[in-house]
Amino acid sequence: MTQKDFDEIAELALTHTGIVLGNHKVNMVYARIARRLRVLGITTFKSYLTYLRSNFQSESTEFVNALTTNLTSFFRENHHFDYLRHEAFPKLKQQGRKRVRIWSSGCSIGQEAYSIAITLKQSSFPSDWDIKILATDLDSNVVEKGRQGIYPADSISSLPDNIKQSYFKHSHDGKIIRVKDALREKVCFKRLNLLEDWPVKGPFDIIFCRNVVIYFNRETQRTLFDRYANLLPVGGYLFIGHSESLNGISTRFESIGNTIYKKIR
Ligand SMILES: C[S@@+](CC[C@H](N)C(=O)[O-])C[C@H]1O[C@@H](n2cnc3c(N)ncnc32)[C@H](O)[C@@H]1O
Repeated sequence: MTQKDFDEIAELALTHTGIVLGNHKVNMVYARIARRLRVLGITTFKSYLTYLRSNFQSESTEFVNALTTNLTSFFRENHHFDYLRHEAFPKLKQQGRKRVRIWSSGCSIGQEAYSIAITLKQSSFPSDWDIKILATDLDSNVVEKGRQGIYPADSISSLPDNIKQSYFKHSHDGKIIRVKDALREKVCFKRLNLLEDWPVKGPFDIIFCRNVVIYFNRETQRTLFDRYANLLPVGGYLFIGHSESLNGISTRFESIGNTIYKKIR
């Protein structure tokens, strides 16, 4: 892979995904795109780029899927779920609107959305409330994995036994778990590119966008958080990742600590 090939890949990634690939990502890009070359039987990056340009409709999904970083886990950054349980959900209950909408954007394989769903179940909202979780990601492979809700058993090994028993089924050999249907049907999975139009209705009460914008430049982050603010009511919540911040990015949110924000304007 020449510098010119890398620059072209980085340019395409930025335009189509918002993901910034600095020169320090050369090895990562090499390893991930080389897999596509092997699958297609193409021997040089130059030829792959020619192939990508002339088959953009079909190959762009695979190209984008190869470049996303999908690291996630159940109850990752657990303090966010504590906040939902003890602060956000009781407040929504008090408001009594009987409608709750939550968006897990950049959901990866869905473990974030299922963690929200478990927390909702534990919070015993009245049964006549209309509650929905939307989970979206750019990478079509992870969206499908989320929809299936099938994971290696060790992905839930650190969860309390009562959660394991209530919400997951083990395979016969015990190596795989599946999210039980009652939980799966609470989450609607869709492919959505945060850089493009959003076919979502809103308004949302809560938006999770965690560990997604670290890969974006500040300009993309500004536009994105402005669009999130447009979909939240004043007082609506935004949860971001542990190494992310809205400092210098948006004045429409107020920090309430621990990478949790409230929309103020
Ligand atoms: C590191 S994962 C974070 C998963 C989860 N939110 C968490 O914190 O555990 C980042 C996700 O953002 C997604 N992503 C990257 N660029 C995106 C874009 N332009 N639109 C939607 N999702 C994107 C990636 O596909 C990836 O699954």
